[in-house]
Amino acid sequence: MNITILEKEQEFFDFVAWCVAVEITLKPEALFGFSTGRTTGGVHAAIVKAHEKYAFDATKLSMFGIDEITNISREYFGSCYYMLLHELVKPLGVAVDNFLMPPTHSDDFEQECVLFETALKKRGPTELLVLGIGENGHIGFNQPGTPFGSRTWLSKMDEALDERIRKETNSPLDARLDGLTLGISNIMQSKKILLVANGERKAQIVYDTVCGPVTESVPSSVMQLHPNCELIVDAAAGKLLRMERGNDSCHCPNVSCENHKQCKPCMASHGNKEYEPFCRRS
Ligand code: GLP
Repeated sequence: MNITILEKEQEFFDFVAWCVAVEITLKPEALFGFSTGRTTGGVHAAIVKAHEKYAFDATKLSMFGIDEITNISREYFGSCYYMLLHELVKPLGVAVDNFLMPPTHSDDFEQECVLFETALKKRGPTELLVLGIGENGHIGFNQPGTPFGSRTWLSKMDEALDERIRKETNSPLDARLDGLTLGISNIMQSKKILLVANGERKAQIVYDTVCGPVTESVPSSVMQLHPNCELIVDAAAGKLLRMERGNDSCHCPNVSCENHKQCKPCMASHGNKEYEPFCRRS
């Protein structure tokens, strides 16, 4: 896993945006996947800003969201459909026919999972997936305990999010607000993954994701096994990964100091004397 730590939050958003813009420029007709949330909301805004300035062509792109909430209106501002439509699809000029999302309403969500997976397979493979991390390590709606072999499925919503969405949407009590999500094995099939996190509240899970054991209790830890995953974080989210100057001992138990020295200790300096903000290892 490559690791990039940007000092400031806005640098983080811009850096991820540039990685995405480069991939779109190189593969303008490919399939790209996105997740929604606070982290990726900032990333999407930076992508749109870059697009306004440099007008790279996204009109032939196919795009999908990795998860969706069930039994709410697509017009609800918290639906993944709504967020991606307004944050990326429309501003980038992606054809709505090329925007693939599971429905929010259905009589048969299990069948919808199969249909969604089939639709993605037709356009696939996924060239690039921008993946957020939940504070408990969830990826998509795959909560701790989800088998690594899981395929597209209907996951139970976490309680806090369920409560918030019910309030905001006035959902009837009998409506099940589940999370229709790509499974972990689907996510792992993406050719390239940008795993992104910002803010101090993500510092522990970022550390566990990179340095902890690969375990189904921490879904994001499976990324250690992906052949082409880049973790991109801001300094606050990456603070437990940092290697202090003048002290070659690394906070990460999985990375020996020798490895760090080989990567010219963590290649580039961002002018921050406290630690090496750009740490790349393989
Ligand atoms: C949400 C979404 C994920 C997202 C994650 C992080 O529940 N289902 O796709 O990546 O949680 O969200 P945030 O960036 O808001 O912390």
